[in-house]
Amino acid sequence: NGERLEGRCKQRLLVVANRLPVSAVRRGEDSWQLEISVGGLVSALLGVREFEARWIGWAGVNVPDEIGQKALTKALAEKRCIPVFLDEETVHQYYNGYCNNMLWPLFHYLGLPQEDRLATTRSFQSQFDAYKRANQMFAKVVNNIYEEGDVVWCHDYHLMFLPQCLKEYNNNMKVGWFLHTPFPSSEIHRTLPSRTELLRSVLAADLVGFHTYDYARHFVSACTRILGLEGTPEGVEDQGRLTRVAAFPIGIDSDRFVRALELPQVQDHINELKERFAGRKVMLGVDRLDMIKGIPQKILAFEKFLEENPSWRDKVVLIQIAVPTRTDVPEYQKLTSQVHEIVGRINGRYGTLTTVPIHHLDRSLDFHALCALYAITDVALVTSLRDGMNLVSYEFVACQGSKKGVLILSEFAGAAQSLGAGAILVNPWNITEVASSIGYALNMPADEREKRHLHNFMHVTTHTSQEWAATFVSELNDTIVEAQIRTRQ
Ligand code: G6P
Repeated sequence: NGERLEGRCKQRLLVVANRLPVSAVRRGEDSWQLEISVGGLVSALLGVREFEARWIGWAGVNVPDEIGQKALTKALAEKRCIPVFLDEETVHQYYNGYCNNMLWPLFHYLGLPQEDRLATTRSFQSQFDAYKRANQMFAKVVNNIYEEGDVVWCHDYHLMFLPQCLKEYNNNMKVGWFLHTPFPSSEIHRTLPSRTELLRSVLAADLVGFHTYDYARHFVSACTRILGLEGTPEGVEDQGRLTRVAAFPIGIDSDRFVRALELPQVQDHINELKERFAGRKVMLGVDRLDMIKGIPQKILAFEKFLEENPSWRDKVVLIQIAVPTRTDVPEYQKLTSQVHEIVGRINGRYGTLTTVPIHHLDRSLDFHALCALYAITDVALVTSLRDGMNLVSYEFVACQGSKKGVLILSEFAGAAQSLGAGAILVNPWNITEVASSIGYALNMPADEREKRHLHNFMHVTTHTSQEWAATFVSELNDTIVEAQIRTRQ
């Protein structure tokens, strides 16, 4: 079998992330239905052709029984995925608690939720213990399948403790770690009770990557200020050992979006949407329903725009796709009610018998419907209060080949550093500024729109997810070779 032979010669890449790129639904005692989710990371790794990728992660379901675990492991093996089984209590403390109620808000400068602040502080230690325990479980699974020569790539804030666990198993393992969120200023990181342990563990990796130069700089400052280590242009040095730290901005598989627009079913969607919204400009927001996305701020800015521009009231619609996420975390539940309340108020105020100004959907769209929606949009609104990168802005640009619509983009999204020259950058906290940017975008002359769009389109189609992954992995290999040369000298 040619594929297997080819596979055997290739270096193996073990990708470790909290979530597998597969969702599993139990159909019987020993049968599972799997669905691959083609997210950013999956398509990125399709570009790393010189490697054979294996995935290690949590399958997102609780499987307490051995029969179920065995059957799921077997089914996932066909997709080159290896599950980590986490019990309900660990998921509660590690995923809902430490990851999403502690690290996530902190890394996005949101602080801890006001009313649970003391409760969160009290439960900190048990949550951190669960975090370490979960990371050790991931490490154990990686170590079981690890073969000499494999490259291990750990992802995101869920797995900051993993590099150290892996190196404790085997100091020769090649380990990279990449953060998909911002890394905050060292002054924020300092407030974390586990600040030292987390930094030390990440430093056990050979290469540490971030989306932007600023995040990398914040990480190096945290290591120098909190750990007293030396920051160099290459990374962080501790007693002669260098951990290389660098920026690797992620992208998307732009071809997949551009190609989708040619499909007859997408064209049908496009025609339906055009007919549905004929005579009105379409503004679009696509976000997970998360505090960091600034959805209430975006809607309030849209309200202000309608308030100040009565002539636009029946000529523009805002479609907000809000994908439910982390629904067991109370802050996310509160946000959902808050957004519903604001949308209801505005639609009550400016709606007519036949139209409403905001179409708000609490669900995701399938890929083809999403591409069609991006394609017919006049103005996309990304108002993240903080965002590691924000690939919705990239997807919108990739689908705007003919329309050349306008992107309003938060200056606090990593994407502002790459799409800043083409987008209208805004401070999402400043509703007046966002409202006037909406007016500017809706009235923008065609030549300016075209110029801005081309700038962004060039960037999105040349800085792809495939290139991102290939660059990180080849840098990781080089880092290790350089370290070996240094040790020999
Ligand atoms: C962010 C994180 C990812 C995470 C995703 C969805 O993009 O950086 O690691 O997978 O959100 O969140 P969830 O909690 O559903 O995995």
